[in-house]
Amino acid sequence: MPKKSAYDDVTAFAPATVANVAIGFDILGHTVEAVGDRVRIKRIEAPEVRICSITGVAGELPVEPERNTAGRAVQAMHQALKLPYGFELSIDKGIPLSSGMGGSAASAVAAVVAANALLAEPLTRLQLLQYAIQGEIIASGAVHVDNIAPSLFGGLVLTVGIDHPRVKQIPVPKSVRCVLVHPHMQLATREARAILKAHVTRSDFVWQTANLAGFISGCYSNDLDMIRESFDDVVIEPQRQSMIPGFGEVKQAAMAAGALGCSISGAGPTIFAWAETHRTVAVQAGMVAAFRAHGLDSDAWISVIENDGARIVNP
Ligand code: HSE
Repeated sequence: MPKKSAYDDVTAFAPATVANVAIGFDILGHTVEAVGDRVRIKRIEAPEVRICSITGVAGELPVEPERNTAGRAVQAMHQALKLPYGFELSIDKGIPLSSGMGGSAASAVAAVVAANALLAEPLTRLQLLQYAIQGEIIASGAVHVDNIAPSLFGGLVLTVGIDHPRVKQIPVPKSVRCVLVHPHMQLATREARAILKAHVTRSDFVWQTANLAGFISGCYSNDLDMIRESFDDVVIEPQRQSMIPGFGEVKQAAMAAGALGCSISGAGPTIFAWAETHRTVAVQAGMVAAFRAHGLDSDAWISVIENDGARIVNP
């Protein structure tokens, strides 16, 4: 029988994420330190994966492991490693459902990180990424890693490839923070993906490519003007914005308060902005007021972007 780790019971935290970051649809994402999901896993004798509780801002989430993002991710790991023991999961949701803040990804990531700590020979983060992806597929019906990879690795993360992903953490200028505003409504990722056109025009392709390249080069060279100029999604945002009441006004309020850029967080309805630290309070106030004018209350956070990603919090 394989050796076990020193622990029988661990809890991991995985942060919320802003996927796409305006110009990197399905390939770019960043963490938000202020909020996240926790998964506690106990080792059990029966060689199976079970979910014993789901708490927090859970809503209606399936407790069958094969239908739950955290359960499915750990099941994929459990099956691949052919473990002779099992795992029992308790999921504590801090990220609102269908909010565009990477909740399904964070649960899957926290689960594989916790399960990993119970292995005698822990896997690398890149190996864990493959199992967490199996969980994310259940939630959105598509393979995309722009929530999973940043939640696992931390910070602003570019992922190239799916079967053999290459993950690159990109430096973020030290003066920049993320303002995140979550209106009290839900938008299913499947729905927000289903409305997208299958083709882009050549001119949009050129603009989006230029903006992605400009944004990343601006991050590496600490060039806030370049980041501001490039912070413009000409492909996805125009197609999705009508699904979010007040989107135009919220964005306008953020930009009027001095944001570097503002767009939809993941598939929405949460909207995020990047801003220099001294402007964040005004940006947040403007965005919240604009949602309020459209009859929507919201929760809002101001967060650093770079962090360590998912981690064990107990023991
Ligand atoms: N890149 C994905 C999308 C993220 O925008 O559909 C979903 O969380």
